Amino acid sequence: MHHNRKLSESIGVIGTGKMGSALVRGLLKEKLVKPEQIYAYDILHEILMELVEETGINAALNNLRIVEQCSIIFICVKPQVFETTLQKLRTSFTNDHLVISIAAGVPLTTIERLTGNARCVRIMPNMPFQVGEGAAGFSLGTRNDNRDSEIVELVFGSLGKVFQFPEYLLDAVTGLSGTGPAYVFVFIEALADGGVLAGLPRREALILSAQTVMGAAKLLLEQNVHPGVLKDAIMSPGGTTASALQLMESRGFRSILIDAVEAATNKSQFLGRNNLSLSDQ
Ligand SMILES: NC(=O)c1ccc[n+]([C@@H]2O[C@H](COP(=O)([O-])OP(=O)(O)OC[C@H]3O[C@@H](n4cnc5c(N)ncnc54)[C@H](OP(=O)(O)O)[C@@H]3O)[C@@H](O)[C@H]2O)c1
Repeated sequence: MHHNRKLSESIGVIGTGKMGSALVRGLLKEKLVKPEQIYAYDILHEILMELVEETGINAALNNLRIVEQCSIIFICVKPQVFETTLQKLRTSFTNDHLVISIAAGVPLTTIERLTGNARCVRIMPNMPFQVGEGAAGFSLGTRNDNRDSEIVELVFGSLGKVFQFPEYLLDAVTGLSGTGPAYVFVFIEALADGGVLAGLPRREALILSAQTVMGAAKLLLEQNVHPGVLKDAIMSPGGTTASALQLMESRGFRSILIDAVEAATNKSQFLGRNNLSLSDQ
């Protein structure tokens, strides 16, 4: 973790929807930058102004101003509007710009084609970076230097865990950690439902459930052991855990999760191929 480090560059954020605004909040919460260093723009004026009022960042007049003003630029618009958004800015980028795209499925070849001579990064983050516990995978483009991976690791390492991969593995990152928080929310809700079925009040059941997921994950990451070791430590002979796990195994709990990650990975590959064929025509 680089909690004591800061970015001196001016930071641009194009698109302040769910992910763009989460990124801004995360950067400020971790004190990586000051609000005055951030320039943001969104087509939806209200959501931009809400974020500006909440955080004290600058509202840019348009995306071109961001490119003129900032050296690190996060692209946080939906994949469907990626091309049209960047097309107009293409000639304004120089090699002094670092463009970091979070758009799912938009390949580095497309990002580089639309950003002149800029150094490009493609990253797949996830929603919990809003609270400093994100999980992300990234790939560098063809024009980057070592400093660029340091910047990405500084930003996303301060907002959680981040790993560099060859680009073809970003679909797998999407299937695991990009969409994974949704699986975990369903898990938490269902666990709480089980608690309610067993007689617990709803509010407490939900907190016990979420805290159980967070605590187990934290224990695993801190102790750095195989999950089976920790599972064995909880599972006493003839006990309650053994009964629950017997039922989970017989209903295919593990294979459901494995298949879910595979399904999301396949879907990500499919969408990526479609983006590529559309945008490269
Ligand atoms: N949600 C996730 O968990 C997740 C995880 C990893 C990556 N991502 C990626 O993150 C990106 C953003 O997703 P999101 O969920 O934050 O979407 P979102 O909430 O729809 O935010 C995108 C925002 O960008 C605005 N916008 C559209 N065109 C623009 C332009 N030319 N200039 C400036 N702003 C523009 C959109 O306005 P309009 O609504 O008017 O178009 C919207 O407010 C996507 O590419 C997605 O693939 C999301």
